[in-house]
Amino acid sequence: MNAPAPLDTLPAHRSLLAHAARLRDIHLRELFSREPGRAQAMSAEAHDLHLDFSKQRVDAAAMGDLLALLGQSGFAARRGAMFAGERINVTEDRAVLHVALRAPRGTVMRTGGRDVVPDVHAVLDRMAAFADEVRAGRWRGHTGRPIRAIVNIGIGGSDLGPAMANDALRDFAAPGLDFRFVSNVDPGDFAWKTQDLDPAETLFIVASKTFTTQETMANARTARAWSLAAFGGDERSVARHFVAVSTAADLVAQFGIDPGNMFGFWDWVGGRYSMDSAIGLATMIAIGPDAFRDMLAGFREVDVHFLEAPPERNLPVLMGLLQVWNTDYLGFGAHAVLPYCQHLHRFTAYLQQLEMESNGKRTQLDGRPVSWTTCPVVWGEPGTNGQHAFFQLLHQGNVTVPADVIAFAEPNADSLGMHDMLFANAVAQARVMGFGQTADELRALGTPEHLVEHKVMPGNRPTSFLLCRKRTPRALGRLVALYEHATFTAGALWNVNSFDQWGVELGKKVCGTLLPMLDGPRQPAPDASTDALIARYRAWRGRA
Ligand code: F6P
Repeated sequence: MNAPAPLDTLPAHRSLLAHAARLRDIHLRELFSREPGRAQAMSAEAHDLHLDFSKQRVDAAAMGDLLALLGQSGFAARRGAMFAGERINVTEDRAVLHVALRAPRGTVMRTGGRDVVPDVHAVLDRMAAFADEVRAGRWRGHTGRPIRAIVNIGIGGSDLGPAMANDALRDFAAPGLDFRFVSNVDPGDFAWKTQDLDPAETLFIVASKTFTTQETMANARTARAWSLAAFGGDERSVARHFVAVSTAADLVAQFGIDPGNMFGFWDWVGGRYSMDSAIGLATMIAIGPDAFRDMLAGFREVDVHFLEAPPERNLPVLMGLLQVWNTDYLGFGAHAVLPYCQHLHRFTAYLQQLEMESNGKRTQLDGRPVSWTTCPVVWGEPGTNGQHAFFQLLHQGNVTVPADVIAFAEPNADSLGMHDMLFANAVAQARVMGFGQTADELRALGTPEHLVEHKVMPGNRPTSFLLCRKRTPRALGRLVALYEHATFTAGALWNVNSFDQWGVELGKKVCGTLLPMLDGPRQPAPDASTDALIARYRAWRGRA
């Protein structure tokens, strides 16, 4: 097995540069006419997920060398090391074992010599018992009223996953329970999300792996004050209205939340890989323990597929390879993710953390700088809405943005053929991005000459089409695991540590030093621009 190595030293790298030079100017129209079996050859399927990557600007020879690159990169050993619980997060000296969160009871997955699967199921069982109590109205607030609103307080991985999943599965949720997500240190967020809630019927989940994150702790303190004010300051109410999800039992207790009301997880679960841990408590309360376990089963199916399927039919591996191809060989710096599903409206935001916090790195595993581009900018919104906003640029702008189009075959609910319209839009956009419309075609349609150039659609915009069967908890688990492992694959090729996030630390520290300058005796800020901004802020707040 090969050890991790810099991308540009791998033997297949040079051939891929040559493939890119060859393919850069070949149109997808030509690739399709040269290769009649392309749509079939360049698609792969597993667990009701159908990936069509035939409209990527790649051919069989380039795919062959991408697979060779994978073989040379040490990817397989790295994947094995992750599943074996090795400390592959080298800069934080931690294992990366989110795959254990969805391992069925009885499976053995070890890290540091300990089988963690029984621990995972012990927490899942406690979560299930608690979720059942809340859902059945047996968990009572301080005044004896059942809970009607659940407010998750968390940020980053302690917010985006459950917030995304709760919307993705909203129609699977228990009726009568209202879910809100407070994340921003902007006090307007808490005020907005709680303005119509009754404290006597509100349960807060304080979700923070570290239980130190500024935004979360500030919102948690605000929530505590808001709740206590309604109960005459009676501290006993906290036990009925606050639970915590964290790895830091001591800090949870210090905050005043009963450790009996805490659901734990472990340092081997990265924040952005945690929606299937206790961080998913709000999701479990919404959809119920059985559906949550079904979601975990979907994750697990894709884990096993990622581990066992041959690379040329391995969906996350193919997606990771294509991301490296588009980013490094074709030089596209952005990647749009376009779910044709309104319930997935937070999915791209979720992926932004998953991919950009994982692979937005400039340093290789051994500390040397990378000399290739790592993660593209991930962005997007659901179709069809995006079509009426930014698709103009996707079709005719002079930057090329590869896109993933995600669609579901079976509707969860339909009305007057709308689901067919939705799907027709998805395939239409992918077709137009790929094949465009030529000047000759426009003339043949009778387009006035002065409009022809304006209406030409160059096409040749790469897309992968991910067709899923139906939106269910299981399908959501599969989809998230697919992107988790695609992110892993690309990160392994880029030779970066996909599991640390040092880039977010400095901003937190600097905030800590600037905060005291906003009030009290005037102190100079460390640079002229910041100093002037603070001066203006203080003046407008009457603190000059
Ligand atoms: O943004 C940095 C980060 O550490 C993320 O990785 C994490 O998901 C988020 O902050 C929240 O952290 P915590 O769960 O510890 O509050």
